[in-house]
Amino acid sequence: MYKLVLIRHGESTWNLENRFTGWTDVELTPTGVDQAKQAGRLLKEAGFEFDITYTSMLKRAVWTLWHCLDQMDRTWLPVVHSWRLNERHYGALQGLNKADMAKQYGDAQVLTWRRSYDTPPPALEPTDPRSERGDLRYAKMNPEDVPLTECLKDTVARVMPFWNDAVAPAIKLGKRVVIAAHGNSIRALVKYLDNIADDAIVGVNIPNGIPLVYELDADLKPIRSYYLGDAEAAAKAAAAVANQGKA
Ligand code: 3PG
Repeated sequence: MYKLVLIRHGESTWNLENRFTGWTDVELTPTGVDQAKQAGRLLKEAGFEFDITYTSMLKRAVWTLWHCLDQMDRTWLPVVHSWRLNERHYGALQGLNKADMAKQYGDAQVLTWRRSYDTPPPALEPTDPRSERGDLRYAKMNPEDVPLTECLKDTVARVMPFWNDAVAPAIKLGKRVVIAAHGNSIRALVKYLDNIADDAIVGVNIPNGIPLVYELDADLKPIRSYYLGDAEAAAKAAAAVANQGKA
């Protein structure tokens, strides 16, 4: 049996301000740092060890990983960064307040933008100063591959090559893996791992900074999955995420 740990970053400044973030590179808040440290303590107490770690190109996930590893005294572990683990791109919504958008467009529209499988938010113009095209960290990418918006389906499509080419082979080689990523890049992985239908993924919300443990069989099919620590607190935190898009 294999174990895989997924962790959404701790609370970010734009989580606190309830703003759509996507590929915008915002910091953790002090609460977010505490959540990341707590995740590391939980992993340590439960006896988890890792051989390789994966994260995105965005500092809220990177710092979350580092704080976790620091609590485990494992900052020497290899870290692989991939844009494929970045948050889902939120298009022209990036920077806007989620509750304000719900007041303006209605809860149902915001729920569609946030949680539908295949309806992307309005796209950014490539010339919009908020666009990440031209950002040095993505310089090796084909500029057209730097998204201007994404629905979850698009996110699944770019996360899966990374799963298939990097993560799954590492797990099968016996490497113990932790992935520190984002609400929707983790939803993409959870959808794939748990084989969740397109219309059921709308109800899945990932809380900040709580390790999500998967026990996988030899074919990497889940045997079970659970949040480490207080299950009730994790469920409450996931419900709070769901409510962020209401007027
Ligand atoms: C964001 O990008 O705004 C958040 O990290 C995830 O947002 P969501 O829960 O509204 O999809």
